[in-house]
Amino acid sequence: MRRPIIVGNWKMQKTVPEAVALVEALNAVLTDVHEVDIGVAPPFTALAAVAEALRFSEIVLVAQNMHWEPRGAFTGEISAPMLTDVGCRRVIIGHSERRQLLGETDETVNKKLHAALGSTLDPILCIGETLEQREGNATFRVLEQQVRGGLAGVAGEAMRRVVIAYEPVWAIGTGKTATPEQAQEVHAFLRNLVTTLYGKTLAEDLRIQYGGSVNAGNIQTLMAQPDVDGALVGGASLEAASFARIVSFQS
Ligand code: PGA
Repeated sequence: MRRPIIVGNWKMQKTVPEAVALVEALNAVLTDVHEVDIGVAPPFTALAAVAEALRFSEIVLVAQNMHWEPRGAFTGEISAPMLTDVGCRRVIIGHSERRQLLGETDETVNKKLHAALGSTLDPILCIGETLEQREGNATFRVLEQQVRGGLAGVAGEAMRRVVIAYEPVWAIGTGKTATPEQAQEVHAFLRNLVTTLYGKTLAEDLRIQYGGSVNAGNIQTLMAQPDVDGALVGGASLEAASFARIVSFQS
């Protein structure tokens, strides 16, 4: 059985006081949820304060991005050692907003993935097709390229630490969720692909999150799909009550 993993991606939202208030509210309402891995990914500026607020919590601190070099002259960038230093345990890599708006490519995604795996950060590798690609029947080809490109050179042992997040670009922030059947179809495809690349045992253990307009109303049917193992949640993770309802989908 794969343990569900649900992460809130706050994107460029929340000041430090707002971020602390949100995790304090989550800590208070989520004391009974133990069968799900829960993470929050605040903006960099709030990581230290949120880490402090999560000191006695099961909620894990996640970074939204990182650079592949450990240090150096890279103005505006943040490295893996800096993220682990502040208490991050995971990092989101290759989010579609970074691919679409900030020049991220499979090559930079791959470099970041290797750097994360060389540190103690467990990566969440994001992949997803655009609406144009879906309508042009290119979905599986695009996803295969993103998986192969993102994971190039990653050995089986390290792969055990990777989570894949399938986030169709057309479903992010649009209120248009993939149907549970659409999500399942892609997740099954991805698990098959990982079986080809890493073998059946690893593929069976791999957790694949769905992301794109996940909310308290659709989480249950998504999680009921056999190959959907969790969610990466944007908008609906910004309020304690709605994120708490999402991570409590089993109750
Ligand atoms: P959304 O974002 O839930 O607001 O669609 C998901 C994501 O980008 O991870």
